[in-house]
Amino acid sequence: MCSTSPTAIPEARAAADPDGLVGESGDTVVSRIRAQVAAGPDGRVGESGDTVTVSWRDLLTEARRRLERSGTVDTPEVDARRIVEAASGASPAEFETVLSEAAAALPAARFHSMLDRRSMGEPLQYVVGSWSFRTLDLMVDRRVLIPRPETEVVAGWAVDEARQLAAGLADGREVTVVDLGTGSGAIALSLAVECPRSRVFATDVSGDALAVARANLAGLGRAAARVSLHEGDWFEALPGALRGSVDLIVSNPPYIGTGEELPPVVADWEPSVALWSGPVGHEAVETVVGEASQWLRSGGALVLEVASHRADASADFATAAGFADVRIERDLAGLKRVVIGRWP
Ligand SMILES: C[S@@+](CC[C@H](N)C(=O)[O-])C[C@H]1O[C@@H](n2cnc3c(N)ncnc32)[C@H](O)[C@@H]1O
Repeated sequence: MCSTSPTAIPEARAAADPDGLVGESGDTVVSRIRAQVAAGPDGRVGESGDTVTVSWRDLLTEARRRLERSGTVDTPEVDARRIVEAASGASPAEFETVLSEAAAALPAARFHSMLDRRSMGEPLQYVVGSWSFRTLDLMVDRRVLIPRPETEVVAGWAVDEARQLAAGLADGREVTVVDLGTGSGAIALSLAVECPRSRVFATDVSGDALAVARANLAGLGRAAARVSLHEGDWFEALPGALRGSVDLIVSNPPYIGTGEELPPVVADWEPSVALWSGPVGHEAVETVVGEASQWLRSGGALVLEVASHRADASADFATAAGFADVRIERDLAGLKRVVIGRWP
């Protein structure tokens, strides 16, 4: 990693931290920042020739203390580290090394912007702007649901199904996969990368969400050639020619009912269209299951993420709709989370 020029942080920020952060020498981060701001952007101070710098370690300490004090963050240590990694551009392996380096002005300003947002309760994933999902590093912001660990499990079952279906096809033929309500593109892009014999149609009713999926698709590399994005209400978004020929439908539809409670960090920050299904919570699942039969070929599969407390009802609904071999799989927390069925 290249060495960086010292930070010039606005004095207003220094003044805004009444505690200061005491370093080993007895000085404070605030007093050092003030001296640095006074010294100008090249960090040189007076005639003595001393150079004042703010290191990433100083900023890490500031972040940890501010997040602890904010009362909005459960894991201040972890979040402070992630913010420093994101602002400094350090990979987890480079983290310890970067701490002793001086923070340059622009990355330090970005660090403070992220710290302000996180202190006000914005989810860490939106603050740092990206999140890992299976093999992918996805861009995420408030236009999309934050991809969840349970959805990584759902995507895993979908990848398994896609690979099995591909194995049953004639050489060279691709599996036609549909991801309904793609959001950031987490499931669709994972399928494209992890099943190279797939052709993936990803849909969403939200144009904002599709803009994020498009950005993620742009960073996908060669697999992007096998993914297309379509805007519209569930199956209406799909090219009509796919009717009756789809090998695999996967979806993580909204599944929260109007009367159900969500933690404020979810309800206040994530898009409503990604969360709320309707008065009961089962509406979107019923729409997807109900219409899937018109789009799947015989032998095609359906993989759905569902609310754990409604998993049995969702599976019963799939059976009643005509699906065979319907089963429920659990997520990493052991909760019933995935419904899988085959169209006979
Ligand atoms: C629970 S989020 C899932 C996002 C992403 N697939 C994931 O797993 O992280 C549900 C997604 O469905 C989309 N959605 C909601 N209503 C829809 C509809 N009527 N038609 C298509 N997509 C819809 C939302 O915009 C949102 O992106």
